[in-house]
Parts: sequence; C-alpha cells; structure tokens
Amino acid sequence: MIKKIILIIIIILINFTNTELIEQGITTLNIGENNLMCSIIDTPNEFIYFGASTSPAQIIKISLSNFTKISTLTLQEGLDYISTGIIDREKELAYFATNPGSIIKVNLTNFSIISIYNLSEEENSIEGFAIDTQNQILYLGTYNVPAKIIKINLTIFEKVDEITLDSSYGGVRAGQYDPVHDMVYFVVESSPNKVLKIHGSSFIITNTLNLSSQVYPTFDLMIDSLNGSLFIGSYTQPAIIVQISLTNFSILSNLTLSEGGNNIMTSNIDPGAGFIYFGTHTFPGYVIKVELHDFIEIDSD
Ligand SMILES: *[C@@H]1O[C@H](CO)[C@@H](O)[C@H](O)[C@H]1NC(C)=O
Ligand SMILES: *[C@@H]1O[C@H](CO)[C@@H](O)[C@H](O)[C@H]1NC(C)=O
Ligand SMILES: *[C@@H]1O[C@H](CO)[C@@H](O)[C@H](O)[C@H]1NC(C)=O
Ligand SMILES: *[C@@H]1O[C@H](CO)[C@@H](O)[C@H](O)[C@H]1NC(C)=O
Ligand SMILES: *[C@@H]1O[C@H](CO)[C@@H](O)[C@H](O)[C@H]1NC(C)=O
Ligand SMILES: *[C@@H]1O[C@H](CO)[C@@H](O)[C@H](O)[C@H]1NC(C)=O
Ligand SMILES: *[C@@H]1O[C@H](CO)[C@@H](O)[C@H](O)[C@H]1NC(C)=O
Ligand SMILES: *[C@@H]1O[C@H](CO)[C@@H](O)[C@H](O)[C@H]1NC(C)=O
Ligand SMILES: *[C@@H]1O[C@H](CO)[C@@H](O)[C@H](O)[C@H]1NC(C)=O
Repeated sequence: MIKKIILIIIIILINFTNTELIEQGITTLNIGENNLMCSIIDTPNEFIYFGASTSPAQIIKISLSNFTKISTLTLQEGLDYISTGIIDREKELAYFATNPGSIIKVNLTNFSIISIYNLSEEENSIEGFAIDTQNQILYLGTYNVPAKIIKINLTIFEKVDEITLDSSYGGVRAGQYDPVHDMVYFVVESSPNKVLKIHGSSFIITNTLNLSSQVYPTFDLMIDSLNGSLFIGSYTQPAIIVQISLTNFSILSNLTLSEGGNNIMTSNIDPGAGFIYFGTHTFPGYVIKVELHDFIEIDSD
C-alpha cells in the first residue's frame, strides 16, 4: 500500500519539511549538510531549498533536475537554527524563521537576502508558518509558552497584530491558510490538542476544535479549499489522518494508515487530481497517497 520514496516524488511534494525522507537523495548529493529542518520547493524553476539548523543558519539551494548543490547562503552571525520556511511562488520570495526569532526574506531569483525582521525576545521557536500571498500576510505561531500567533504585513515587513494564547496551552506546531475563506488554522499543543480557526483580516479566533489525544503530535496540516476540508496527519505509529469539515469545523472522519505509515511530518495536496500526500519521518521514508473523495489510502502505482 505504501510507495517507497523516490526522488521524483519529492517534486510533487511542496513544502517538504522532512529531512530523513530526502536523506537518500542528500546522501547521493553528498552536500555534507546535516540538520536540515525544512525545505521549500520551487516547482516551476525546479529548485529545492533547505533551511539548516546550524549556527549561523544556512540555506542550501539544490537543483531538482540533476540533484546537485547550486549554492549555500550562510546567514550573518546571530541568525541561527532555521526551524521553518515558506515560499511565495508568484513573487519568487521565501521566508525562513530562525531561533531566536527572526524572519529572513530571501529573493529566490538571485538567491540573496532582501531583509531581516527581528521579532521580540520571547518570540522564539517558530514552528508554524502560513501565508496569504494575495494580501501579503504571513501568519506564524511560536512554540514558547505563552505561545503567540503573530500577523506580519509582508508589504511593510513588520508585525501588525498578535494573539497571545491562554497559558494553559502549549506551543503552536503548524499552520495553514485557506484563501477561499480568509481563515488561518493552527494546531496548538494542549490536553487535548486543539486546532484554532482564526479569521485572517479581523484576526480573531472564531472556533476551537479538540483533537483526539491519539493525534499527537502534529507537524503539518493541509487544506482542500475546493471541498472544504482540513487534513491533519499525526506523528504517531501508526499515523492517523483526520479530516475536518471547514464548514462546521467538526471531525468528519479519520484514517489509520497501514503498516509503515508512521510519523507524518509533512503533507501536500493536489485537490484538482483528488489526492493528498503524506511524507513520513522514518528511515527509509515513505510517501503515502490518499484519495480525497473516498478518503482511503491507495497504492501509488
Ligand atoms: C545542474 O542543473 C543546474 C540547473 O538547474 C545547472 O546550473 C548545473 O550546472 C547542473 N549541474 C550539473 C553538474 O550538471
Ligand atoms: C536582527 O538580529 C540580527 C541577529 O542578531 C542582528 O545582526 C541585526 O542587527 C538585527 N536587526 C535589527 C534591525 O535589529
Ligand atoms: C530579486 O532579484 C531579481 C534579480 O536581481 C530582481 O529583478 C528582483 O527585483 C528582486 N526582487 C525583489 C523583491 O527584490
Ligand atoms: C539580488 O537582487 C537584488 C535586487 O535586485 C540586488 O540588490 C542584489 O544585489 C542582488 N544580489 C545578488 C547576489 O546578485
Ligand atoms: C500592509 O501595509 C500596507 C502599508 O501600510 C497597507 O497599505 C496594506 O493595506 C497592509 N496590508 C494589509 C493586508 O493590511
Ligand atoms: C475541549 O477541551 C477543553 C479542555 O481544554 C474542555 O474544557 C472542553 O470541554 C472540550 N470541548 C469539547 C467539545 O469536548
Ligand atoms: C458537518 O458537515 C458535514 C458536511 O460537510 C456533515 O457530514 C457533518 O455531519 C456535519 N457535522 C456536524 C457535527 O454538524
Ligand atoms: C476515529 O473515528 C472513530 C469513529 O468515528 C472514533 O471512534 C475514533 O475515536 C476516532 N479517532 C480519532 C483519532 O479521532
Ligand atoms: C469535491 O466535491 C465535489 C462536489 O461535491 C465532488 O464531486 C468531488 O468528488 C469532490 N472531490 C474530492 C476530491 O473530494
């Protein structure tokens, strides 16, 4: 039921935040870099960028056509440990988060840093990034308690709003933006874990959904705007995929993956074709393909 990872599949997976999954490719590449915390795929231009959790932090650019390292961007002293990144494909820009909390805006066209925005001292460990490219807003969640959800206007590249979460909550793990409804979703650690639904422009938490304790932890979530569903994959053995209705914000169904479907670290959706893909944080890594309509795991080939 599960397809072993092959490099070509990486191209399908956008925002592939897995390290070990791609490790086979990396080993072949021999880019000599460990601690790859996140990756961004620039599909039309066929490049993959890895953010490294090093001191100072590094961003590594790799060609997807021949899997060779093109170049490395080493950040300045004081900008350490990249934790997450996101791409604005249209503008050919990428944003990476470092720890302590700074946001690095990178011009992907010539692979250079455009600017750096430093968050306040306590705003560290950014694990959830969500982007509204239309309105040029970046939403981010911090993992430090009390956790915060921060709104950054990318046009001026400054924080414009923030929500400090209740101290009974743990850190924010992952985020995703729904452009159709101007809603942003974040998974927050708590007992039980929760999904927060936040209206983008008013920046108000409109709903909170409790997740089952089995669905813990979670590092990624995906939205099918077309059919109004949110999918959450768990970092558990086996992994569980939960489908949530965006209309009434309730759990529609859940799917326990078959053998080998463990530790979901990343996901990507192709709503047009009707598939969602999940990458496992295992060695070897797997890509699991789930059919959206019937919500079943299927054989890729
Ligand atoms: C790999 O592809 C890139 C373009 O993506 C090219 O610039 C580079 O020269 C190629 N390297 C090798 C070793 O073929
Ligand atoms: C942001 O932080 C970096 C790293 O500590 C520092 O080099 C830079 O001067 C800071 N920028 C501003 C505007 O404070
Ligand atoms: C990115 O770099 C390219 C090439 O130098 C340039 O044309 C473009 O204006 C830059 N983009 C931004 C947002 O600075
Ligand atoms: C990249 O493009 C920007 C904006 O056009 C320019 O200021 C910068 O010097 C360029 N950097 C490199 C490394 O070419
Ligand atoms: C971002 O800031 C610019 C400049 O102040 C403003 O024109 C724009 O409306 C802001 N964007 C949003 C989505 O609020
Ligand atoms: C959700 O969890 C909270 C505890 O954080 C609990 O008080 C609340 O009753 C739960 N809601 C539902 C609908 O189960
Ligand atoms: C939520 O909406 C879905 C249809 O999208 C429906 O199947 C489900 O029963 C609804 N759940 C609740 C609790 O209303
Ligand atoms: C999955 O769905 C079943 C049946 O609706 C339910 O009993 C179970 O608690 C759910 N598990 C999770 C992890 O949501
Ligand atoms: C989305 O909804 C349409 C109409 O309700 C349905 O025909 C289609 O199969 C759904 N697609 C997926 C991927 O669920």
